[in-house]
Order: sequence, then C-alpha cells, then structure tokens
Amino acid sequence: MALLKLKDRKMDAFAIASNPGSFELLNHDLHGLFGQSWGNVTVEAAGTMLGRGAMHGEEVLIVCVEARDEQNLGPIDSFVRAAKKGGFVVILVAKDVSPTALHHLLQLGADDFAPYPLPDNALANIFNQLHDKQHAVPAELAAKKARNGMILPVYGAAGGVGASTFAVNLAWEMATHTRKEDMRVVLVDLDFQFGSVATLLDIPRREAVFDMLSEPDTLAGDTLAQAMTSYKSLLAVLTSPSEVMPLDIVGADYIEKMLRLLQARYDFIIVDLPKALTDWSASVLTSAETYFTLLELDMRSAQNLMRYLRVLRGEDLPGEKIQYILNRAPGFADLNGKSRVGRFSESLGIEINILLPDGGKPVTAAGDQGEPLADSASKNALRKEIKKIAVTLVDLSKEARAAIVN
Ligand SMILES: Nc1ncnc2c1ncn2[C@@H]1O[C@H](COP(=O)(O)OP(=O)(O)OP(=O)(O)O)[C@@H](O)[C@H]1O
Ligand SMILES: [Mg+2]
Repeated sequence: MALLKLKDRKMDAFAIASNPGSFELLNHDLHGLFGQSWGNVTVEAAGTMLGRGAMHGEEVLIVCVEARDEQNLGPIDSFVRAAKKGGFVVILVAKDVSPTALHHLLQLGADDFAPYPLPDNALANIFNQLHDKQHAVPAELAAKKARNGMILPVYGAAGGVGASTFAVNLAWEMATHTRKEDMRVVLVDLDFQFGSVATLLDIPRREAVFDMLSEPDTLAGDTLAQAMTSYKSLLAVLTSPSEVMPLDIVGADYIEKMLRLLQARYDFIIVDLPKALTDWSASVLTSAETYFTLLELDMRSAQNLMRYLRVLRGEDLPGEKIQYILNRAPGFADLNGKSRVGRFSESLGIEINILLPDGGKPVTAAGDQGEPLADSASKNALRKEIKKIAVTLVDLSKEARAAIVN
C-alpha cells in the first residue's frame, strides 16, 4: 500500500565511505544533526552524483576514511578535489588513518576533520565553527538539532468527517510508538476558529497562542515554544487560540515560517486544518509530505471534494500528494458496501487506499473525556487501524532516510 507519498527529499548531508559499514556509529550523530535529511553513499556513488549534478551544492559532505583506504587513496582524493571545486563543505572522519594521509586530504581543501568514533558533539562543534568562520553551513544546520521533519496535514472534505479525531490519534500513536527513540512528534491545530485538538486532548489553550497570531511579526522559535503545550509530556501540541480568530489573520509567509521552525525541531508534524480554503492553504499542501484527506461515503463529501480538486487544478497545486481516507467505511463483510466504495472512488477519479471503520460511541466518548483512543478504548477497531498507519509511517520514514537518493 502506498501509504506515504514521499516527496523528493532534499538532503542536507551525506556520509561518504568506501565501506559505509565501517562507520556505523556515525548514523546516530547524523540523525541527531540532520533528522531524516541525510544519506549514506559509497565514494563511487557520491562521485557519480556529484558528476551528474545530483547534489544541489548546500549539502555537507562527510568523507569517512579508514586505514585500508590508504592503499588506494585515489578515489577519495579525486572526490575531495571535485567536491571542493564545487564549493561543498567537506569534513573528514578518520578511523586509524596515518597523519600523512590525513594531512594530504586536508591539503586538498577539506574543511576540517574529526576522529572516529566521534567525540561528543564533535560534528556539531565543527559546523558551528564553520558557520561562524565563513557561513558555509546554513544557520539552521549549525543549530545542532535541525531535524527537517515530515509535514503531515489532515484535511476533512466535509464538516464532521473525523479529521480531528484522525489527526489527534495518529499523532498520539506516532508519539508513543517512537517514545524510546530520538524522534519527536508535534500536533498543530491550524483551525484558528473552531479547532478541537485542545478539547480532544483536554489541554489548555495558552494565551501565548493568541499573542503569537495577533502579532505576526513576533513569530520565532521562542514565541512558538511558549505557545506550545504537551500531552503527557510525550506529544508536543500547538492548540488553536481560546478566542475565535479570522483564518486570514496570518498569511502564507507566516505559516511557511512556522512550518520551517517546526520542521527544525520535530520529526513529524501533524497538522489539523480548517475546512475553509485560506491564503495559506497552498503553502501547507506544498510543504506536505503526504496530505491526508478524510471523506465519508456520502454526497456531501463527494461534492465538496470535486470542488476542492477543481481549485487545486486551477492553481496547479500538487493534488498527487493527497492520500484519501474513507472514514466510517463499510466493513469487510459488507459486499454491497465494498462495491459502493468502488463506485464512489471511480466516480470521483480518486484512489482510496485507507479505510477507517466506524468505532461507534466509544470514539465520541473518548473525545469528550479528552483522551486519545489508545488511553480510553485501546481495543477499539478505529484505534487499531490508526495505530497501524502510525507504525507504517514511522517505519517508512526511517527507510526513506536510510535509502540512498539517486
Ligand atoms: N470512525 C469513527 N467512528 C466513530 N465515531 C467517529 C469516527 N470518526 C469520527 N467520529 C466522531 O465524529 C465526530 C466528528 O469527528 P471530528 O471532530 O474528528 O471531525 P472533524 O472532521 O474534525 O470535524 P470538524 O468539521 O468539526 O472539524 C466526533 O464526535 C467523533 O468522535
Ligand atoms: Mg476538526
């Protein structure tokens, strides 16, 4: 099932080695620094990528050299030369390498080096120094824990189709699934008027949310942090304000900046969206990894969706990112229901990959108590499905990170 419609991933760093397996301890450091946006490549593959212009120029190239490379330093030598000629930042990581070989590679223009295994914060310190020296590394990378998280918006094609229920439970399942890992999840309610995330999780709406939205110029890492709350200290949450605010109180620039700030700090950013189209709707869609759109099997959802898709087409927006979810879908046993789903998706010209079951009264009851399904109705059929999706998303994102882009 094509659950995650991955967009082209812009890489921030590559670890390059003849034998990437010799430098496994590096993976953890790189994840801490670059989140999902780095890859492991062989010297040969990196040379090819460089030659083809497949690197955009801002990636940090971490060239790993070990003792056995010294017999045949040629390929690494050429790669470092080519990378420096291309203006890339090149950092050497040396494992039992002789001072002569290290000296030689530094002479070719490598910007700095660190021994392997890396001392604590070695790479972060190097980036900070380089940044101070020559602004070679973008500021957000130097800020140590830039994660470049995935933006996963949730949109409901019609009122009450279950978008917020899905967003809240997806976020909570992802947060609990990754609780032992260095991964952070944030849930953001961008429905400034009638957002219900705060209600569904029974958390307070902070005054700082109102301030941050009413004075757009103040948006920055620290004001955003002040506006955030968390659910059980595990899931970061930005609720909607306590007062109803116009959706156009902020513009596209504001939302884009907010998303960038969040991406630098979180691995997964789940966004609950308002039904109405706004000046910034396109920004959210454009920056999304996958854009979940919930529907129900009725005329209301069908008609709204057709109108919505017409807008996307008119504005040349990436509709292919949409992942349709049919909520309260008929069960397996319901053959008549199954053919209705088939006809429904066919008539709309869309593919529906995800079906969510009706979870009955416990779903609304959980929302009323301000608890995710996992905490109040863990055996509920809806919960089980959302959990599966959460686990798959986390796994796919890990694979995407490990995969070599080419
Ligand atoms: N699969 C489901 N099974 C049972 N109840 C559900 C299911 N999905 C949603 N609900 C219930 O439907 C109601 C509406 O859900 P929710 O608030 O998540 O929808 P929404 O699309 O966010 O609505 P809004 O238009 O208000 O933003 C809630 O009471 C919720 O508990
Ligand atoms: Mg909602």
